[in-house]
Amino acid sequence: MSEQIIIFDTTLRDGEQALQSSLSMKKKLKIALSLEDMGIDIIEAGFPISSPGDFKSVETISKELKNSIICSLARCVQKDIDVAAEAMRFAKNFRIHIFLGTSPLHIKSKLKKSFSEIIEMAIFAIKRAKSYTNDVEFSCEDAGRTPINQLCYIVENVIKAGATTINIPDTVGFTIPYEFSQIIKSLYNKVPNIDKVVLSVHCHNDLGMATANSITAIQAGARQIEGTMNGMGERAGNTALEEVITAIKLKKNNLNLHTNIKHKKIYRTSKLISEICNTIIPSNKAIVGTNAFSHSSGIHQDGILKNRKNYEIITPESIGLKPIKLNLTSRSGRAAVKHYMTEMGYDEKLYNLDILYNSFLKLADRKGQVFDYELESLAFMDQKEDTIEHFRLKKFNVQHQSTGITISSIELYCGQKVKTAKVRTKKGLINSIYITLNKITNFPTCLKNVQLITQKKPINIVISIKVQIEYKKRQFYGISSAKNIVESTVQAMLHILNNIWRANKVNIILKNVKK
Ligand code: KIV
Ligand code: ZN
Repeated sequence: MSEQIIIFDTTLRDGEQALQSSLSMKKKLKIALSLEDMGIDIIEAGFPISSPGDFKSVETISKELKNSIICSLARCVQKDIDVAAEAMRFAKNFRIHIFLGTSPLHIKSKLKKSFSEIIEMAIFAIKRAKSYTNDVEFSCEDAGRTPINQLCYIVENVIKAGATTINIPDTVGFTIPYEFSQIIKSLYNKVPNIDKVVLSVHCHNDLGMATANSITAIQAGARQIEGTMNGMGERAGNTALEEVITAIKLKKNNLNLHTNIKHKKIYRTSKLISEICNTIIPSNKAIVGTNAFSHSSGIHQDGILKNRKNYEIITPESIGLKPIKLNLTSRSGRAAVKHYMTEMGYDEKLYNLDILYNSFLKLADRKGQVFDYELESLAFMDQKEDTIEHFRLKKFNVQHQSTGITISSIELYCGQKVKTAKVRTKKGLINSIYITLNKITNFPTCLKNVQLITQKKPINIVISIKVQIEYKKRQFYGISSAKNIVESTVQAMLHILNNIWRANKVNIILKNVKK
């Protein structure tokens, strides 16, 4: 029968350590609840002795969790353990996680102790933690660089003292899969009481090996994996949980293992955490990157359209994402262009694929990615007539005051006419520009997303703004760069408004064709 791998999430502890500013209690609670909703078994909520804020967050989370077990970190210090237990006193079940450096380097140069003192400290701490809960985890910090006989000796003794989970961290991401697997196998072969505990692994990604090391460890017998969502964490980060849990599912016949995770919740949990923590997920990040399920080359797009399995080992739907995305770029073939047109409801009889494909290639060469609405306008609009934008900026004046009020006045050429709008709002600078432009154009839109990217050069700072606006359930995108945020926002939004205007015109043209 398939055995369960316990998933231990440390986004709120090891992950948070890597953030530039700490998370508020409310934000931590939101993350904890979404991790619980995704089916995480154990949530390490913090290190309560480290600050009153962390204590409060752990205490709050411990009152709210219903299914996941809450866990707190403590050093082998009585006060740490007492405070960790106090912070979790409202929880139904809780775990105390004690750690201590076990490598010669950590023992000598960090802790300045002898090996026998380390054993004593560990035993004392476990006994203290046991006075609060039966669920005690012990981590041999820097286990990846601890000589195996020394590691086995410590593990045997901490099990005797009452630890119920033994964690083997590769704290500095030093090992490669073969070495890490040998460590786990040796522990199973050499520690006589190892069958009394759950063996856990906690890998860091300094060599990009965290996922591989975690998987090799469970093949060697470990039954708990620790990590963070999106691989957040110290330096190069921790094991990315979305990667290991997806690998366990995909290779279930091979590994004969499973987890409690609800896979359809992976994407939304990952996104929520990246938004709350303000950490950008690289577009090519495995499983949750925006490109993880997009196909760009013509050959791949054609293959995907014939059978998704040609280039997809997991479906986007399985992690809670919408179906495949074909990026329309100059590498796309006719098949992808035709697919997009069909998806938008346009029969090939309505347009000439050869002519459309040629104009698409020209546009893609010029601008990179082409969106569905741009394809639509290439197919149905007179391209000569389309060279002049309908909405053009005449002038703007945007003032943001220290009172929080923004006054925006914008003047646009709308075809042959000139229109002006003025808005005074407390909704912030970007919203004020959006509202003012909306007042002129009158499209029922919704501002969905704004992303700001700065490129710092020694003298010039260029600000790029990426905007996403929804109009009649369609997504429109605009990007613009300028030396100031107001100008780049106005231009990015104008780009979108012109595309909405074109989409409306296409509609009118098509209605006339049908008549
Ligand atoms: O990486 C590490 O060793 C840790 C321990 C505290 C488990 O984060
Ligand atoms: Zn760690």
